[in-house]
Amino acid sequence: MLTARIAVVVSGGGTNLQALIDAQTRGELKSGRISLVIADKDGVQAISRAGAAGIVCAVIPRKEPGFEEKVLSALETHKIDMVVLAGFLGIFSADLLRRFQGPMINIHPALIPSFCGKGFYGLRVHQAALDYGVKVTGATVHYVNEVADGGEIILQKAVDILPGDTPEILQRRVMEQAEWVLLPQAAELVAAQIVSKKESSI
Ligand code: GAR
Repeated sequence: MLTARIAVVVSGGGTNLQALIDAQTRGELKSGRISLVIADKDGVQAISRAGAAGIVCAVIPRKEPGFEEKVLSALETHKIDMVVLAGFLGIFSADLLRRFQGPMINIHPALIPSFCGKGFYGLRVHQAALDYGVKVTGATVHYVNEVADGGEIILQKAVDILPGDTPEILQRRVMEQAEWVLLPQAAELVAAQIVSKKESSI
């Protein structure tokens, strides 16, 4: 069976990467195969998660010159069809997005268009939701375009904010109830579209 070759780009703990790996093991992510992990920082836990699953991992430090060229070259070498940003805390340039031909999707830990865009990443997103006093937040998977967190929405799921929440407690609830469920589902949806295009072009 044809599958889409997926690259997952990570910056940290890699729990969303783990959710994708687990979904693949369970057969829920079946139209795509995680063929490459790109970590933008050495020493992060996501690298050992990739290693434990037997997935090739390229460490390409974001802070070093030539970062995007090296990312594009890794995507080309591994013949990647689609990219999943799973806790990637950088922002790719319009130039990279133009040069990578396949779809790229991202998970954001809020209900876009709330608490998103430049500067909203990781715990900061949950801090902002708590500071505002919203009673519901959630997660969004969307296509990546040249506007930070601005691409077409694929899936969203709401999560309650509860009295006494800290950014850390809220982050964990959003991950458990929304992110780890939505990201594998969205990856499967997009991979299935790629496979059906490949099949129709044979
Ligand atoms: C996740 O909550 C993800 O949604 C968020 O960073 C965390 C990474 O966790 N991403 C962003 O804020 C992107 N704007 P993980 O490394 O354990 O998957």
